[in-house]
Amino acid sequence: MSQRYPNYWEYIRVEELLALQGGLEEDEAQLSDDEVMFITVHQVYELWFKLLLRQLTTVRNLFRGPRVEETELAGVVQGLRRGVVILRRCVDHFEVMETLRTRYYLEFRDKLTPASGFQSAQMRQLEILFGLEDKDRIPLGVEGSYVTALRSHDGRSSPALARVQRQQEDLPTLRHAIEEWLWRTPIDGVGPDEPNADAALDRFVAAYLRAHEGEVDHSAAAALVHATGADEHSRLLARYEREKESLRQFLGGSEAEGGPRQRRMRAALLFILTYQDLALLSWPGAVLEGLIELEQAMTLFRQRHARMVERVIGRRTGTGGSAGVDYLDQTALSYRVFRDLWAVRTFQLRRSAAPALANPAYYGFVTG
Ligand code: HEM
Repeated sequence: MSQRYPNYWEYIRVEELLALQGGLEEDEAQLSDDEVMFITVHQVYELWFKLLLRQLTTVRNLFRGPRVEETELAGVVQGLRRGVVILRRCVDHFEVMETLRTRYYLEFRDKLTPASGFQSAQMRQLEILFGLEDKDRIPLGVEGSYVTALRSHDGRSSPALARVQRQQEDLPTLRHAIEEWLWRTPIDGVGPDEPNADAALDRFVAAYLRAHEGEVDHSAAAALVHATGADEHSRLLARYEREKESLRQFLGGSEAEGGPRQRRMRAALLFILTYQDLALLSWPGAVLEGLIELEQAMTLFRQRHARMVERVIGRRTGTGGSAGVDYLDQTALSYRVFRDLWAVRTFQLRRSAAPALANPAYYGFVTG
């Protein structure tokens, strides 16, 4: 059989791709330059979302097994890195959309109604893959839930809805997979199923709380020197006391704080971040940094979208019927998935203030 050599246009499917910007008219010649740009930019986003979903699913899959090998953590970090870079490009792309002047957008905007970006199934898939829960979503407005918004106008299912439903069944979410991994992380060399697991955890938590109190007292002493008057003195003192109390609560293991399981995961987060200079913990540390970068990029995407929307349409009602910019700003504020990862930033310590490792030999750290 003779070998077939492809052309660029065959491999990339250029002709098929270029035939997709005709809009509802299915004919580009009938559309303004603005509308072709509007359609093309959305299509570019959907392609980036497709890649992101694929890449982050691979990352999630690497965490699926009962044990994650160190060599696989390098793959996770690489996958997260690509995800972050793609999301940052998504943030930049809004600049192209911003070349759309309000009066020109209004020329064709009404014909889109009630279509809207909130019917982007792939964005919903990404949120679900991250681990955003339905209870944490903000109501959209007239369309009801985000799931109803994906139904066809006659109420029947749609390819968009089917995608999202498949995603809902594709478990675990990235968040749950990471939480499992954190739960299994040995603390001071002791895993959760070993007989002295609780004792090792308690020891680390107590040592960390002591070190943290010392650091907060240190900062408080430096700040109180500058307090002018008794009122400011006691206000500052109370603020620093609250900092200590919030870490005690965070690591307290009460039901309100997610119980003992959450306590272990939170302690593991602090443990990895405190000792990430150790060879055994450097990949786990890089995974955690990659995750926070990813969620930060997602938040910036939401914020950037909202600013672009404000510039193009002001604060009018969205084509999908939501409160528009107000709704988008709320999602940027509250759609956080890796909340504990953000929370621990408040509790991290200077390197020199970290409590001593209880079991340095486990980490190949030998002194003397
Ligand atoms: C002139 C351009 C755009 C305007 C005026 C605009 C406006 C809006 C508005 C007002 C909403 C809130 C829902 C509604 O009531 O419709 C929304 C949602 C959304 N838009 Fe855009 N948008 C624009 C471009 C884009 C682009 C290029 C993307 C890229 C994919 C995008 C993605 C989304 C997504 C994913 C949502 C859902 C957000 C959520 O529910 O959290 N939008 N858009």
